[in-house]
Amino acid sequence: MCGIVGYLGKRQAAPVLIDGLYALEYRGYDSVGIALSDGSTLKIIKKIGRVKEIESARAERGMVGIGHTRWATHGDVTAENAHPHTFRGITLVHNGIIENAEKLKKQCIEEGETFASETDSEVIAHLIAAEYRGDLLDAVRRGCARLVGSYALAVLCEGEPDTVVCARMRSPLIVGKAKDGLVVASDIPAVAEKDASLYSLEDGDFARLKGDEIEIFNAAGEKTLRERMEFDLEDGAADRRGYRHFMRKEIDDIPEVLRASKEEIDRSFCNLDLYRVLCQTEYIQVVACGTAYHSGLCFQAALERVCRIPVEVDIASEYRYMDPIVRRGTLLIAVSQSGETADTLAAVRLAKRRGAFVIAVVNVKYSSLARLADAVLYTRAGREVAVAATKSFNAQLMALYSIVEAFAAVKGRRVPTLSHIERRAARTIAAAEGVRGWVPYFVGAKSVYFIGRGVDMCTALEGSLKLKEISYLPSEGYAAGELKHGTLALIEPFTPVVAILTRRDIAEKTMNAVHEAYARGASIFLVTCFEEFCTEKEIASSVLIPKCPSDFSPILSVIPLQLLAYYVSIARGNDPDKPRNLAKSVTVE
Ligand code: G6P
Repeated sequence: MCGIVGYLGKRQAAPVLIDGLYALEYRGYDSVGIALSDGSTLKIIKKIGRVKEIESARAERGMVGIGHTRWATHGDVTAENAHPHTFRGITLVHNGIIENAEKLKKQCIEEGETFASETDSEVIAHLIAAEYRGDLLDAVRRGCARLVGSYALAVLCEGEPDTVVCARMRSPLIVGKAKDGLVVASDIPAVAEKDASLYSLEDGDFARLKGDEIEIFNAAGEKTLRERMEFDLEDGAADRRGYRHFMRKEIDDIPEVLRASKEEIDRSFCNLDLYRVLCQTEYIQVVACGTAYHSGLCFQAALERVCRIPVEVDIASEYRYMDPIVRRGTLLIAVSQSGETADTLAAVRLAKRRGAFVIAVVNVKYSSLARLADAVLYTRAGREVAVAATKSFNAQLMALYSIVEAFAAVKGRRVPTLSHIERRAARTIAAAEGVRGWVPYFVGAKSVYFIGRGVDMCTALEGSLKLKEISYLPSEGYAAGELKHGTLALIEPFTPVVAILTRRDIAEKTMNAVHEAYARGASIFLVTCFEEFCTEKEIASSVLIPKCPSDFSPILSVIPLQLLAYYVSIARGNDPDKPRNLAKSVTVE
């Protein structure tokens, strides 16, 4: 992950870089740094912690600069390991992972060079410095030729103080013209402003920013043009709209997100010729990571029951190394909020090589995944700032359930519709506020369990992930029927157990697990659409959600679990928007 930004132009660079870095903090916030050049001297300011740590650098002078916000991969969170890194007049910021860094470093050390950090990134500065003969672009190209791994780079050079050179290989990078200057960044919100022209580099591209000109070169070294990106300033805005945290606002966004996503997806279905794709589909694989993986599981549960089509759902980082079987007629659905998750992208590349047709369900336009897929269904969650995904999950479900409906039409099967889902989501949010009363039971818990059967188990997994991510409580999502085969041993008096119950036909079976846990002293909390279970004596407290077709119920039943995680996180004194050790967009493997 990590976010990078760069500027050169007529303005002072420091405020542009710092504002850009705030917009990139979702990519990591272990440390932060900028390098500024005023034409004769280069100044580097770097600190452990978040962007606010370098606020005082706003006043520093220099019209050329690069900046970085770090999510540590190689090396601890220290000021030395913070970017920019510099060596013999070459200064750079890097997003990605250099897989042969140790070998390259050893060679440099044998040549008498010394390293100031433990990062894999610093070695790139050494390689470029070794290649520099008066042409920075050429030196970056030659230096990068020795790298194995992924990188987005912005590089400054003492010998060419009016130039920034960039390179991209499997880490996103955009360049463009903004007001009074040229910009480079990992993502649009860092540099978006009215009338800016932004271009996304392709893998293997290099770019030189100098004066008021951007030159882009492809992997073969030929000067090339890239498509201008359209963007909506509103989409990129990170406005808490008066909420204390983005996460809480983003949960309240869910009804509108469902409406907008449904509209967008219906439109895409018209253009996609999806009907033809679905008719030719014999096998379905889903690849994704984190929350997006859970939306894939929910899709599987729905599609298999409604359409009787077998679906395989794989964690992308596993798929790519399990030598997957991709048969003729395989449709691979890749789900991702950011569209930049390295493992998901790698899984898609592999599936494509093996002949799968790929549909991306993705939230970010121009993302690597959107460009890699054969067809795209965009979710309209808008910008999600909180690291823990909420509204993007509901939006993914909306898209995936639309695919279920489309398959049902192809197969001539009846499918329950998700009518008025936005209204039901709004009612769910209102009812789910009741989870605030659950917080005292959770705040000091040693561990927490979420249980359910069938589709409710998928919701349990997501509820558990949310809680882990932002409250730091150990938690497991579990198949209710499996509890007695091991996990029950962990239940102690007052252990919180959250049961999810949205399928009437198996509700009693899930209640069996509830009785078993209660008998061992657990405190039981319930999320259900069936009123009759709320009053059972075992239930400490419940949230009654509106009825919705049970195969699609996670789109509502997850909401109380998202809110529970949020309130427990706050009660434990955490920042729910920026959980420790995590980042929103995981662009490294
Ligand atoms: C990170 C985020 C998760 C997210 C996962 C997949 O781990 O912290 O919230 O679910 O990446 O991200 P994607 O952008 O591919 O949906």
